[in-house]
Amino acid sequence: MSYSFILTEKHGKAGLIRFNRPDALNAFNRGLMAELVQALEDFDKDDSVGAMVITGSDRVFAAGADIKEMASASAIDMMLEDKLGIWDRLRRIKKPLIAAVSGWCLGGGNEVAMMCDMIIASETAKFGQPEINLGVIPGSGGTQRLAKAVGKAIAMEMVINNRTLSAEEAYRFSLVNRVVPVEVYLDEALKLANEIAARAPLAVRSGKEMVNQAFETFLEEGAADERRAFYFLFSSEDQKEGMRAFIEKRDPEWKGR
Ligand code: HXC
Repeated sequence: MSYSFILTEKHGKAGLIRFNRPDALNAFNRGLMAELVQALEDFDKDDSVGAMVITGSDRVFAAGADIKEMASASAIDMMLEDKLGIWDRLRRIKKPLIAAVSGWCLGGGNEVAMMCDMIIASETAKFGQPEINLGVIPGSGGTQRLAKAVGKAIAMEMVINNRTLSAEEAYRFSLVNRVVPVEVYLDEALKLANEIAARAPLAVRSGKEMVNQAFETFLEEGAADERRAFYFLFSSEDQKEGMRAFIEKRDPEWKGR
């Protein structure tokens, strides 16, 4: 299968998906989101694959949702399109998902990394939810998963004051499984995926489901509320100003409406 925004490969029993939109720092446009989910579903059905790895480049895992694609959208556009509804399919993938993260891992990029079952970070990884700079909030479960992963104190700083975590901090705050040199983060993730793929498949599947149940049971409702709040903010002048300012490479002027 050939894709426009991702590359897929197999390494032993690991299915690898690389984001491949370097000019936009792997920002998630509609096409990339659809291709990612499709490729994951295909690997999920492929008996020769036991686990999947999602990665970007050494410079950037992903810079978040495509700001240029949504800057002028109204709240109604966002709700009708339900742009973020596609991630529900990612959460239904049965095989383990590992994010191999290097460089920037921001906004929707961090949300996708957190939707994975494990994160392997390079020493250069930087994790953040900079949506506040655009006059919005995370919309794909970021507020909910961050609060559970790193705790309220750090999550609050990240969501409402754009605190960025270094790889070492992300490890200390339990956001990632391990931190390794940039030269080996992808190899480490593929090795881990192959180790898991060699284990009893049904037990792996149940184990993933059950650990996620502990983590995610009460999350669904919060994530649905978050998504609505994210869409609602597209009726504000501040969202228009915030996103326009990013595109025009200037500081935004907030009005509070
Ligand atoms: C669209 C983006 C983009 C994005 C970068 N680019 N991030 N385009 N959407 N999220 C584009 C830039 O406009 C620029 O295009 C090119 O990629 C290179 O980016 P630079 O800013 O020049 O690179 P650099 O100075 O190295 O800065 C890197 C960066 C910065 C710190 C990552 O690009 C940045 O702050 N990006 C936005 C991050 C962000 O706010 N993410 C949250 C998005 S909202 P040109 O054409 O000028 O070369 C979100 C909501 C979640 O994710 C909803 C769920 C999915």
